[in-house]
Amino acid sequence: MDEPGWPDRCILARPFSGLPRYIVFEARSHPLPSPEATLPHPDLPHARDLVAQAERVVALTGAGISAESGVPTFRDAGGLWRNHRPEELSTIGAFERDPRTVWEWYEWRRGFLATCEPNEGHRALARFFLRRGVDGIVTQNVDGLHTRAAAEEAGDGPPDAAFPIEIHGAIARDRCNDCGLRAEAEPLAAHDDTARGTGTGEAPPGGTLPRCAECGGLRRPDVVLFGEMLDGALLERAQTMAARADLCLVIGTSAVVYPAAGIPLATLHGGGRIIEVNPQATDLTRAAEVALRGAAGEVLPELLA
Ligand code: OAD
Repeated sequence: MDEPGWPDRCILARPFSGLPRYIVFEARSHPLPSPEATLPHPDLPHARDLVAQAERVVALTGAGISAESGVPTFRDAGGLWRNHRPEELSTIGAFERDPRTVWEWYEWRRGFLATCEPNEGHRALARFFLRRGVDGIVTQNVDGLHTRAAAEEAGDGPPDAAFPIEIHGAIARDRCNDCGLRAEAEPLAAHDDTARGTGTGEAPPGGTLPRCAECGGLRRPDVVLFGEMLDGALLERAQTMAARADLCLVIGTSAVVYPAAGIPLATLHGGGRIIEVNPQATDLTRAAEVALRGAAGEVLPELLA
């Protein structure tokens, strides 16, 4: 393609070749121009028609959908990866080298997320899939806000149809790094005898970290770290759902982390369409039938009403 910044389909497809398809990695392309959000959205009627006509709909969400809940994104100005080095905090190598630092980072995020609430974007999406009862949400977010929105919007009914497939895991759970056994998360300090002994609440290096009740291995938050494999069964479910969908809603993701960013392409390759909801252009924008420039919490209630 001749437009600067647009990676052609070959480049979009390339991350799947030469790398095991379940490994998490980031594929950056040239920066695209970032047009200002346009309100009201001139393409909204067309987007609403696409939603009304679609028999099967899948949504892929990223950090942007939680931005209006106060959760920092990763790559925007002020995003987590602008201020922290992912290779020190969110890779399997970092965990093996220095589990305490990685633990403290996730413990900080757990504490922060406990103060956040689902926003109108999560809620609109939850209502939409509860109404439909089929297909659903695939999220890269580990914050649990889709699940909370589903439970709250379902009221006395079953919330399952709006529970997301969490392909990068869930920060609220622990998992054994050795045997994979999942466990309810406990505060780090509860395992840290040294910290309890000092009474400072601080966790000195070398203090005790949470261990698996079954095998004694080191526990860690149940999230996928860079360089790790995704859960193959979850990814298959997400890709199958996307491949048979007529419509993929791509919401609040920069679409640079694979294999998640390849999920909308499964819809495209199956003959379906993409609607993107994002204040900025991304690598996927030109593949979208409609790109609604705006915040998810404002756009989704209008799009999915
Ligand atoms: P990014 O931080 O890369 O991208 C966030 C996207 O949200 C950007 O495209 C923003 O323009 C957009 N955005 C910001 N505010 C928004 C709003 N109110 N409404 C809609 N969109 C908004 O986050 P992700 O794409 O989710 O992985 O990042 C993907 C993965 O990278 C994460 O799952 C995480 C991270 O490293 C792992 O940790 C494995």
